[in-house]
Amino acid sequence: MTDKYRVVVVGMGKRGMHHAQAFQANGRFEIAGVCDIDRDRLNAAATRFSCASGTDAFQVASAVRPDVFCFCTLPKLRTDMIRIGIETGARLIAFEKPVALSSGEGMEVRKLLATGGVKAVVSHQHRYGQHYKKVKEVIDSGALGRVHTVYGTATGWMMHMLSHLIDYMRWYNGDVKAEWVMGQAGGSGKFYDLHPSPDYIAGFIQFANGVRGIVECGAGAPDVPEVDYWWRKCRIGAQGTDGFAEVLTGGGWRAVTKAGASSGPGCMNYDLDMPPYVEDIAGWLDDDRRVHPCNFNSAYEGFEIMMALCRSAVDGGQVSVPIAGAMDERQALSARLAGRKVLPSTPANAKEYLPVKPAPEATAAR
Ligand SMILES: NC(=O)c1ccc[n+]([C@@H]2O[C@H](COP(=O)([O-])OP(=O)(O)OC[C@H]3O[C@@H](n4cnc5c(N)ncnc54)[C@H](O)[C@@H]3O)[C@@H](O)[C@H]2O)c1
Repeated sequence: MTDKYRVVVVGMGKRGMHHAQAFQANGRFEIAGVCDIDRDRLNAAATRFSCASGTDAFQVASAVRPDVFCFCTLPKLRTDMIRIGIETGARLIAFEKPVALSSGEGMEVRKLLATGGVKAVVSHQHRYGQHYKKVKEVIDSGALGRVHTVYGTATGWMMHMLSHLIDYMRWYNGDVKAEWVMGQAGGSGKFYDLHPSPDYIAGFIQFANGVRGIVECGAGAPDVPEVDYWWRKCRIGAQGTDGFAEVLTGGGWRAVTKAGASSGPGCMNYDLDMPPYVEDIAGWLDDDRRVHPCNFNSAYEGFEIMMALCRSAVDGGQVSVPIAGAMDERQALSARLAGRKVLPSTPANAKEYLPVKPAPEATAAR
């Protein structure tokens, strides 16, 4: 036995491997078990980490009884995994965004975690990037004067990118609660993706401190010409009475304030962002007061904003936050937009948002 926190990781794809490597590299954790339904991925991970392994998450976690249950499966799997983590005694569950695919499921996840008394973190790890942190520093220094607007755009689609945008906008606005949102959406092709989403969604957020949030995600979002890599064409920032500061996920940061213009480097990089994310998990396990910056309650507030934007796109008008009652927003929005084509804002977006016919497998997976 060691005094390290024991971790089980479920879903040994791209993000599962990132997590497992970061836990293993941190001296406070050891990978005690891995799980995947894909045997090749499972065997590769079991060899790499020399640990217990299996294709059934409950069996692996029951045998290992980990301190940390981490799952990085695709978005359709959330509630079952949370249950497994709780039932097998984890003290902390680390999982991937999005929190859930509908408010109904998100509310269930929240209830399970609260009843089980288990800590949870959601991987919005971009905020550890040096350029993301620099923008936060400029905002907190007061150099922007009175901040009145926070904004975020991404060309990638909602279930991939919107929870990231909202998380960082909320962070830049001091994690203030939202009061209402109003949104619109267009295009139904990506509802057949494994990250099922409208092709384009955009909207406004009223925060309790009077700051306005403006967000756009998907095919109609503007280009970020400074960034080449399509998935990193994200711009997130804040404007105030004395200037603005913004981060480009793949292109550093810049600010214009009364002191003049300034800018600096930075690019989203899992190898740099995961170690401090994991280090903060150890901190929160050690001490209840060191709440993780990516804690579930904070992520849930962002998730509610995302679901409220979908509700507004379905019914029109403003939607109060916190949202009331459970709903399957994805189903309602997909029915509302059925057959609608999106109008992309750039040729690169047009290539990514082809009108997609539902593949039988993808349809079944919904
Ligand atoms: N935070 C980020 O920056 C970021 C980046 C990319 C993806 N993600 C998120 O990470 C999650 C996973 O994405 P990915 O790109 O790693 O996907 P992936 O397809 O590479 O990996 C998912 C793995 O889960 C396995 N799996 C599926 N069902 C399982 C089950 N019942 N039990 C055990 N294993 C199972 C699959 O076989 C696969 O190996 C998604 O929610 C995605 O949105 C987050």
